[in-house]
Amino acid sequence: MNSLPHPASAPSNQSLDEFWMPFTANRQYKARPRLLESAEGMYYTDAEGRQVLDGTSGLWCCNAGHGRKEISEAVARQINKMDFAPTFQMGHPLAFELAERLTDITPEGLDRVFFTNSGSESVDTALKIALAYHRARGQGTRTRFIGRELGYHGVGFGGISVGGMVNNRKAFGAQLPGVDHLPHTLDLERNAFTRGLPKHGAELADHLEKIVTLHGAENIAAVIVEPMSGSAGVILPPQGYLKRLREIASKHGILLIFDEVITGYGRMGEPFAAQRWDVTPDIMTTAKGLTNGAIPMGAVFVNRDIHDALMHGPDHVIEFFHGYTYSGHPVAAAAALATLDIYQRDGLLTRARELEVYWQEALHSLQGLPNVIDIRNAGLVGAVHLASRDGAPGTRGYDVFESCYWEGDVMVRCTGDIIAMSPPLITEKTHIDQLVEALGKVIKRTQ
Ligand SMILES: Cc1ncc(COP(=O)(O)O)c(C=O)c1O
Repeated sequence: MNSLPHPASAPSNQSLDEFWMPFTANRQYKARPRLLESAEGMYYTDAEGRQVLDGTSGLWCCNAGHGRKEISEAVARQINKMDFAPTFQMGHPLAFELAERLTDITPEGLDRVFFTNSGSESVDTALKIALAYHRARGQGTRTRFIGRELGYHGVGFGGISVGGMVNNRKAFGAQLPGVDHLPHTLDLERNAFTRGLPKHGAELADHLEKIVTLHGAENIAAVIVEPMSGSAGVILPPQGYLKRLREIASKHGILLIFDEVITGYGRMGEPFAAQRWDVTPDIMTTAKGLTNGAIPMGAVFVNRDIHDALMHGPDHVIEFFHGYTYSGHPVAAAAALATLDIYQRDGLLTRARELEVYWQEALHSLQGLPNVIDIRNAGLVGAVHLASRDGAPGTRGYDVFESCYWEGDVMVRCTGDIIAMSPPLITEKTHIDQLVEALGKVIKRTQ
């Protein structure tokens, strides 16, 4: 049995065996667990009482930092007032209020909101809305989807079908039929060490035309991309790429879905990446930062015309046979409203822009360190791309991640040999210094 080595508050005989951890090398983790016990502001405190700087906003979600009392108090108030209310044929005020408040910060036209509980559910919801929309307009042959290589859209069957990360797909044979993938936009040869959006690669969007030529636009429902691929290791859209994608999709009546589960709620220096890069999709999926990670919740923003196209038929008939028991959960809605209050009051939805240059220069100071083959940044996201060891891809990245945690007292993420960072939007320059300095030291001594 694996058990905790130095538990601070858990019983010393606490077994680690039963919890099958998600997206984790379970055996490796349980041999030396990294156990976080509390969190405040920019820091976690681990089971040994160490303060660990949160360089990743938890899992890209705690944009307002940790321990926000306004959120926990709103949650406590709501759970005491009304723990649950259905939103199937019933309703409660907070879900309506939240939907309305959110549309104040969404791109023009995206003013209908479907609530979910996660990014994966948001993606599946968006794909289903696209299919139902085309069908409602008498274009039911539009059933194909186009994703992108290295895309991550969660773990539902819809999401892994349009996603493009091999390990998330290859063990699960049955996926959506009729999916093509655009090429990814990672191009180290031409774009390595670019500050901000890379110069080269807008033409990769033209691949969409090829897919249209292959299948016929009348068979294609939607193209889904992350404006910036986070999970695959911070892969940025080349300058002009998203605009081109928008133009081609519009020309062929194909819906454009932006998966903003990571880029949403201020990460890119605007409420959404769509605004930062001035390209408006037809549907936008979000989750994570919506509640600052405090309570699971997702939201799908839909262009009003798409929504309206589905509002037809007799009034008593359900227009869209889709929804989750917890869609618009009152406690989650309370958390999201309190989160939005903080974001707006403290200017966090645009703060990444103020920090961007400092963040960028700090990260790029690591250029020239051993094995660093690229550094990428945008908004308050960054990645240091390390060369893979011969025959052992991913091990260097993991070693750096682990040493950062145990020796550097900072939490970063590794995707293969890419170290990704996305600190909370309350970050001060001193935190950036601490994070980058710790990472640099670790990289220097990792062979
Ligand atoms: C772009 C994107 N879409 C979807 C998801 C899935 O979200 P969840 O893990 O909440 O299902 C993620 C998670 O990281 C994501 O980054």
